[in-house]
Amino acid sequence: MSNKKQLRIGLVGTGFMGRTHSNGYNRVPNFFPDLEYTPVLKAVCSRNKEKVQAFADQWGYESIETDWKKLIAREDIDAVDICTPNDMHAEIAIAAANAGKMILCEKPLARTLAEAKPMVDAVEKAKVKNTVWYNYRRLPAVTLAKQIIDSGKLGKIFHYRANFLQDWTISADVPQGGTAAWRLDAEAAGSGVTGDLLAHCIDTAMWLNGGIKDVSAVTETFIKERFHQLTGKVEKVGIDDACIFHCHFENGSLGLFESTRYARGHKALYTFEINGEKGSLRWDLHDLNRLEYFDHGDDGTVRGWRSILVTDGDQPYMGNWWVPGLIIGYEHSFIHQVADFLKSLQEGTECHPNFRDAYETQKVCEAVIASAKSRSWQDTGVEWIEK
Ligand SMILES: NC(=O)c1ccc[n+]([C@@H]2O[C@H](COP(=O)([O-])OP(=O)(O)OC[C@H]3O[C@@H](n4cnc5c(N)ncnc54)[C@H](O)[C@@H]3O)[C@@H](O)[C@H]2O)c1
Repeated sequence: MSNKKQLRIGLVGTGFMGRTHSNGYNRVPNFFPDLEYTPVLKAVCSRNKEKVQAFADQWGYESIETDWKKLIAREDIDAVDICTPNDMHAEIAIAAANAGKMILCEKPLARTLAEAKPMVDAVEKAKVKNTVWYNYRRLPAVTLAKQIIDSGKLGKIFHYRANFLQDWTISADVPQGGTAAWRLDAEAAGSGVTGDLLAHCIDTAMWLNGGIKDVSAVTETFIKERFHQLTGKVEKVGIDDACIFHCHFENGSLGLFESTRYARGHKALYTFEINGEKGSLRWDLHDLNRLEYFDHGDDGTVRGWRSILVTDGDQPYMGNWWVPGLIIGYEHSFIHQVADFLKSLQEGTECHPNFRDAYETQKVCEAVIASAKSRSWQDTGVEWIEK
């Protein structure tokens, strides 16, 4: 029996993210043994009793619930982890905050800015610890990019560009609504690629390069009608299938962002590049351990892009893994987020991005959609100070 302090988790949602988070809770004690806290998988909730029991058995949860309200009411739960589709984040988070629970909520914070505001108010009023799973920040190469930028090695920043490209909705036969297809249903998702994919790019971008001031966007819905699994009818598609926007950052640099689910051949190609006066960085999710760095200060005879395999013990997070040269994967970003959440408990600090930070990302998403709709530039109103 561990003598560590316990963080008793109640997880809601047993799909893709339910699995990544459960893996995170299970792995942290093995790889971050110095933390004072340890996660305890107290309960998991989803609506189908047999399925949720099978999930509990597979991942090691002590008990199950089929009603998230019962999970929140339980006294043996310290933190509620929200892994449901976007339309349920607000209701669950506000109820959890009112019950005094800590909250780890999946992204995007909500479907709209209006829906997100009472979530921020609720956690701040209840003073409960909160975080949002913008997990890409916690890949070692991305964290190293942050350290390089903050050290001033790139100098004044001129450009930031990011892509998130997929191809899984090209067929008109892909339905909308219900299990596995809620992302295509505007009612459940809020938006399409903007909230689903660009929200990640925006979170990383503002973390690395500061606030986004204003945006000009274009969106497209290539397939206008799809069969809706919940209504049983062919219905109008309300989400953005693709989105391109450009923007000004507070620091004077220009941003260019593109996301689509119609880039044939690309499954989850998240890339970013940042160009400064003294140097540049670029990163690609499909080669996630690697950070490319160009330093204009290098001797001219050897100057060129360096390819840094981020696996050394003195690089972010890697001291907790294998030996230099051995790579880690996508799932580690979630393990790191759990570890950082536990560390923030022990240190009494915030675990960024919290609801307030994610609200700023939501402002950009909202401005992007409004810009595309009105065919005009939109101010975001972002106040990017992580606090
Ligand atoms: N951080 C990331 O990189 C990342 C990646 C994928 C998804 N997400 C986010 O995670 C969330 C979940 O996405 P997913 O891909 O895991 O979806 P999913 O469809 O795989 O899983 C959703 C789960 O929610 C459950 N659920 C739905 N309604 C429920 C209810 N009333 N009560 C209890 N459970 C309910 C479903 O049964 C299912 O288990 C979304 O907000 C999504 O945007 C984040």
